[in-house]
Amino acid sequence: MKLKIATIAQDQQCLDDIQKFLAHTQTSHPPVAITGGAQQIPAVVEQVHPDLLLLEGVQLNPGEQQILSRVTSRFPDLGVIMLCPPQPQEFLLEAMRVGVREIVPTPVSQHGLIDAVGRFQQRMTMARTPMQEGKILAFIPCKGGSGATFLASNIAYTLASLENKRVILFDFNLQFGDASLFVHEGVSTTSIADVTRQIQRLDGSFLSSSSIHVLPNFDVLPAPDEPDKAAEIKPEHIKSLIQVAKKHYDYVILDIGRSFDAISIQCLDQADLIFPVLQQTLPFIRDAKRVINTFDSLGYSADKIRLIVNRFGKKDDITLNDVTSTLQLEVFKAIPNDYSIVAESVNQGIPVTKLARRSAIAKSLQEITQALTRNNAHGGLLKKLFPF
Ligand SMILES: Nc1ncnc2c1ncn2[C@@H]1O[C@H](COP(=O)(O)OP(=O)(O)OP(=O)(O)O)[C@@H](O)[C@H]1O
Ligand SMILES: [Mg+2]
Repeated sequence: MKLKIATIAQDQQCLDDIQKFLAHTQTSHPPVAITGGAQQIPAVVEQVHPDLLLLEGVQLNPGEQQILSRVTSRFPDLGVIMLCPPQPQEFLLEAMRVGVREIVPTPVSQHGLIDAVGRFQQRMTMARTPMQEGKILAFIPCKGGSGATFLASNIAYTLASLENKRVILFDFNLQFGDASLFVHEGVSTTSIADVTRQIQRLDGSFLSSSSIHVLPNFDVLPAPDEPDKAAEIKPEHIKSLIQVAKKHYDYVILDIGRSFDAISIQCLDQADLIFPVLQQTLPFIRDAKRVINTFDSLGYSADKIRLIVNRFGKKDDITLNDVTSTLQLEVFKAIPNDYSIVAESVNQGIPVTKLARRSAIAKSLQEITQALTRNNAHGGLLKKLFPF
């Protein structure tokens, strides 16, 4: 982001030196430079609207303090850097009180000035970048073995590897979680319990350093390996955990176990979209009906729910239309059944998108991630992608 800088200095020589140093920064041209003192500040600020004001030769006597404090209250985004000889602590406090952000000691060095301007530029860029919050996607099996963990972990990997998103996967199967093994071989020494144990110091870097880095932009936080540790995770931790995660990742994927308890309900409440996963046989459909009814009683509207039929077979007795009419919900996506590729992927801990990029199953995963990232979940493209 280019800065508009105005400089007021007491003499021409000083002004020239400052302008010469500023030539090395990214400014929006031409910089405004005038000789004078604090009396010039209001006119310069009101006419030029600089992002940054450099002041040289101002002593901060009471009259000057008053001028500065009036201007910085009227233009709170204005950055003010004073250039003056080294000063005692009280002066620095006084300067801060009237809105000066930084003091660069004179005689000014190119390095000292450019660093101070750079710091301001960085702060301004951050302040003006809107904070995009990540989307929370929850996957829940309607019955054991539906494929929820397979889909949660593989969709997370695909979002990171093919769509270039920053993704974190949380394994909320707190008793027998296995999600990390679907995308990563080897064991992790940390889990969700280690993060929630220190919830008061949780921030983005703590979260990331506690996770497995499957890819530079894909982290996985596994379930605890012992039931004792799982018991330490409390429902009141979940909201903070997910809130922090969504500030640091584009997608926060939750692999949720089948039981509805206080923790899984917290996860589902936080989710933007819930993906119940079922297969095309009666026992799955029966349990799916119960799950959908529970969503209803939890107050989730139908447009928060994206039904996925996994291990889809075109020749199966029960069709997708049967599923829709029984559950009163459109099928969002049908994922083909491919025993050999999925078994190889799961056994080796290599996601399908990496193992067999051109397989039908990898393609359908990618169709889901494309639909999610194109952000038109109700638009025309989706109808083409998901014609069911
Ligand atoms: N589309 C698919 N084609 C073939 N096999 C699949 C497919 N999806 C999942 N599977 C197989 O089903 C098994 C169970 O999947 P997964 O562990 O993801 O289920 P789940 O719904 O998470 O069940 P759980 O209740 O145990 O958590 C996987 O190990 C995998 O081998
Ligand atoms: Mg599972």
